[in-house]
Amino acid sequence: MTLGSPLTGNATRALLLGSGELGKELAISLQRYGVEVIAVDRYPNAPAHQVAHRSYVIDMTDPVAVKKLIALEHPHFIIPEIEAIATAALADIEAEGQCTVVPNARAIQLTMNREGIRTLVAKQLNIPTSNYAFAQSFEELQAAVDSGIGYPCFIKPTMSSSGKGQSMVKSPDQLKSAWDYAKSSGRVDTGKVIVEAKIDFDFEITLLTVRALDEKGVAQTYFCAPIGHRQENGDYRESWQPQAMSPASLLLSQDIAFKVTHEIGGLGLFGVELFIKGDDVWFSEVSPRPHDTGMVTMITQKQSEFDLHARAILGLPVNTDLQRAGASAVILGGINAKGVVFKGLAQALVVPDSEVRLFGKPEAFVNRRMGVALASADSVDEARHKATKVASLVVVKPAI
Ligand SMILES: Nc1ncnc2c1ncn2[C@@H]1O[C@H](COP(=O)(O)OP(=O)(O)OP(=O)(O)O)[C@@H](O)[C@H]1O
Ligand SMILES: [Mg+2]
Repeated sequence: MTLGSPLTGNATRALLLGSGELGKELAISLQRYGVEVIAVDRYPNAPAHQVAHRSYVIDMTDPVAVKKLIALEHPHFIIPEIEAIATAALADIEAEGQCTVVPNARAIQLTMNREGIRTLVAKQLNIPTSNYAFAQSFEELQAAVDSGIGYPCFIKPTMSSSGKGQSMVKSPDQLKSAWDYAKSSGRVDTGKVIVEAKIDFDFEITLLTVRALDEKGVAQTYFCAPIGHRQENGDYRESWQPQAMSPASLLLSQDIAFKVTHEIGGLGLFGVELFIKGDDVWFSEVSPRPHDTGMVTMITQKQSEFDLHARAILGLPVNTDLQRAGASAVILGGINAKGVVFKGLAQALVVPDSEVRLFGKPEAFVNRRMGVALASADSVDEARHKATKVASLVVVKPAI
């Protein structure tokens, strides 16, 4: 792999579709290798816009707008950060052979819709998942639950992320409102929802899995230490690494992650979400990109998930070693306001081996992630305690 110099005729250019906090860290990792970074989002001054060589605001679900920008910028790599993109346009671009869609267009298409990835994993790869069905009407949903899925169950739009439109249903009287919520809050109404039986897991993990070239130029699979996390309303609040687990469940998790990412192919980092109970493991979903719970690697690994993604994409060797146990805790907006200020940073950062990342989002919402607190320690328990303390000391206030 030859890398060019940014802002010259031989630059290596990467176009980020989605410029949130994960895109921002990836942009920084890429720039450390002298990559010219072009950041795209649907609103101005998004986090990655602020650290990119150039930035654009477009409707990323509009294939014409996406293709126009690609024709203008001629990127070598197109790196999706979010799921809501015109994926068919990416398939066309990939077919033209001018640039690499990371990890590949099929992966982006498969994972943007729960139906694609779930069917592939459960039916083709025969990997255990929750018992599930797709429903196009309330009657179909009711029938699926009555004929085997049962209660409690999860109802989710087939296209959504961060828990949007998702609810857990405990009894028959809650089913209709869950259906209405899923139908109205999905990112794109595909006309379908997925209903999944609730897995009674001991804990859930994200297994960051990297497909990268070795010194012989052959694609190999590497695993980070498992990341445990706690979710609230379908969105992550806290994560830690390593999650303690039995050797058997770790091996099974790695086997599942290998099979899924090998089937998807391409180079890059993937976040494989798994549910664990005893030695049993169920596949939940996979992101073909850095994962929000993986932000903890910014303090636990020498190469964070963003460095690993950047290196894998560029054909460089990776090292997934854990350096020290650590944890992350999200800093939520808590208020709806533009141009907020952050107080308490000095007190928060007195906590030893702690860090704070403020994403620089121009507008706060009550449940919007505005930053993340990170801490390392000799044990996961201590790291979690420190990270949640740091997060709680950072206070978001309206502009004066
Ligand atoms: N079948 C299930 N059994 C038990 N828990 C579940 C199930 N499905 C979802 N959950 C819980 O809800 C969380 C969010 O679900 P899921 O990952 O499918 O949603 P998402 O909207 O894609 O979230 P994100 O984008 O944050 O990953 C899971 O991490 C898990 O805690
Ligand atoms: Mg998830």
